[in-house]
Amino acid sequence: MKVEVSFPSTKVDYYFNARFSELESLANGREIVLLTDKNIQALFPSYFQKHPTIIIPSGEVIKSLQTVQDVTEQLIQLNTNRNSLLVGVGGGVITDLTGFVASVYMRGICFGFVPTSLLSMVDAAIGGKNGVNLGFYKNMLGVVRQPEFILYDAFFLQTLPTQEWSNGFAEIIKYACVFDITIWNKLSKSNLTFYQNNETDLAALMQSCIQWKNKTVQEDEHEKGFRKLLNFGHTAGHALENSLNLPHGFAVGLGMLVACNISEKTTGLDVSVNKNLEQVLMNYGLPTKMSFDTASILEILKMDKKRVGNEIDFIVLEEIGKAIIHKVSFEVIHEALINFSHESNH
Ligand SMILES: NC(=O)c1ccc[n+]([C@@H]2O[C@H](COP(=O)([O-])OP(=O)(O)OC[C@H]3O[C@@H](n4cnc5c(N)ncnc54)[C@H](O)[C@@H]3O)[C@@H](O)[C@H]2O)c1
Repeated sequence: MKVEVSFPSTKVDYYFNARFSELESLANGREIVLLTDKNIQALFPSYFQKHPTIIIPSGEVIKSLQTVQDVTEQLIQLNTNRNSLLVGVGGGVITDLTGFVASVYMRGICFGFVPTSLLSMVDAAIGGKNGVNLGFYKNMLGVVRQPEFILYDAFFLQTLPTQEWSNGFAEIIKYACVFDITIWNKLSKSNLTFYQNNETDLAALMQSCIQWKNKTVQEDEHEKGFRKLLNFGHTAGHALENSLNLPHGFAVGLGMLVACNISEKTTGLDVSVNKNLEQVLMNYGLPTKMSFDTASILEILKMDKKRVGNEIDFIVLEEIGKAIIHKVSFEVIHEALINFSHESNH
């Protein structure tokens, strides 16, 4: 099923309930070059026999400038040019890298995505943010450029490890917290095993999330305001992810708990939300406690792109389904981190 979604800069074609083999028809005669990681290539070898494929190791550490150089050198060897189509087949690391490389190679070639992880299907592949990390600093180098298409083939989820399902659910829980109490109620009543075994319910849940992500990008493609709400849980989350080497979703889950703690102080969020969020995170295999050095997390936060003076634009909740941007001082953030790590130690 093809759905055309218009963003301020361009339109993107979404192919839902599609099959990988349909990729051919989307190229309209252009040469396809695939970019994937070793895991995906090993799990679906037949998918990568027809087109030149660049295979890179998996993992967040690969989302680097060094990989951009390595991939670019391979593109040159393959004679990839402005008439070629670069297609990223993989999780968020692959889609972020593909979009970035395609945006800078020869000042920009066409690209599309086949997201294979739940996280990339509901979040990373959507919205045109592409980029790489610079050492400690997540997504420090990047561009906003939309893919030509996103092809969804649910078959990929059959091989997705449980931890990656949980990572994806962290972002789904985020959409519920920020925008949608209906999603929240569904998630509260259910758990990971249910969605792993009920394709129709999962598809409906994913559609709701994709619609929310598209809406934010349609309203605010370059993240001047509304789109910032999607950073709920990500400010503290990124700092925890980098410093403790946690999976992205695990860190976002913990970051959402820290953000709830801050919300209690800034918007008067009901304390019950924190407890309910803990339960929902647990239902989807996500950790709710972690001990860490609060001072070093604070230092990383002080480097955040969103910092202005002694404050940072933090996404806080007024209630479930209603998030706002609030300037929060580093003192308040430090207090919340101390509370959180203190509770985690008991
Ligand atoms: N651009 C954005 O708007 C945006 C939004 C959210 C996250 N992200 C980025 O996305 C990345 C995280 O994405 P991710 O969690 O997909 O990470 P990932 O790409 O590292 O994938 C996670 C792991 O799952 C494996 N995998 C993927 N699909 C599989 C499948 N079908 N079967 C078996 N294994 C599979 C991968 O090989 C990898 O080991 C981070 O770099 C994050 O910054 C970007």
